[in-house]
Amino acid sequence: MKMEVLITKEKLEEIVTDLGRRITEDYRDKELVLVGVLKGGFIFLADLARKIDMDVKIDFISVSSYGNSTESSGVVRIIKDIESDVSGKHVLIVEDLIDTGLTLQYLKDLFNTKGCASVKLAAIMDKPDRRKVDLKVDYVGIEIPDEFVVGYGLDYAEKYRNLPEVYIIRET
Ligand code: PRP
Ligand code: MN
Ligand code: MG
Repeated sequence: MKMEVLITKEKLEEIVTDLGRRITEDYRDKELVLVGVLKGGFIFLADLARKIDMDVKIDFISVSSYGNSTESSGVVRIIKDIESDVSGKHVLIVEDLIDTGLTLQYLKDLFNTKGCASVKLAAIMDKPDRRKVDLKVDYVGIEIPDEFVVGYGLDYAEKYRNLPEVYIIRET
């Protein structure tokens, strides 16, 4: 297995700081709930929350889109729902990666049925080449090539989520 750094710690920090600043400006004086998408979104959510300079609430939803396969089946299953009432609240769904877009599309539709004041999407990484649905992601950190990436929340068979940088992983 060969691993090559794609996004350094410093670059990730810069991206998250910038997104945090934009979100703070956009949601000033609004009731914002950050909804982290488990598992991959946990690192980005934790870093982003600390770059948002206002009161926020935090909740998590756990979904499974791939089952045991590495290809998206398009079927999204909720493993654990949020615990708070988000009706009337501004919701920002926080993801590590947008690939086909099926997970975020499903979540956006789901939250739109919960009576939120608004539902927006944030993803630190975007693989635009892989998109299967036309979806507007409001806050995108960085576009990446169609390679298998790990670290900063992203796994390969549940490993490597804790790596502080993002790596491209290739079989050798
Ligand atoms: C990955 C990633 C996103 C989703 C993106 O999650 O963390 O949630 O796939 O793919 P899509 O745009 O094609 O839907 P995964 O299903 O691997 O679960 P995990 O976060 O628990 O690793
Ligand atoms: Mn995920
Ligand atoms: Mg995964």
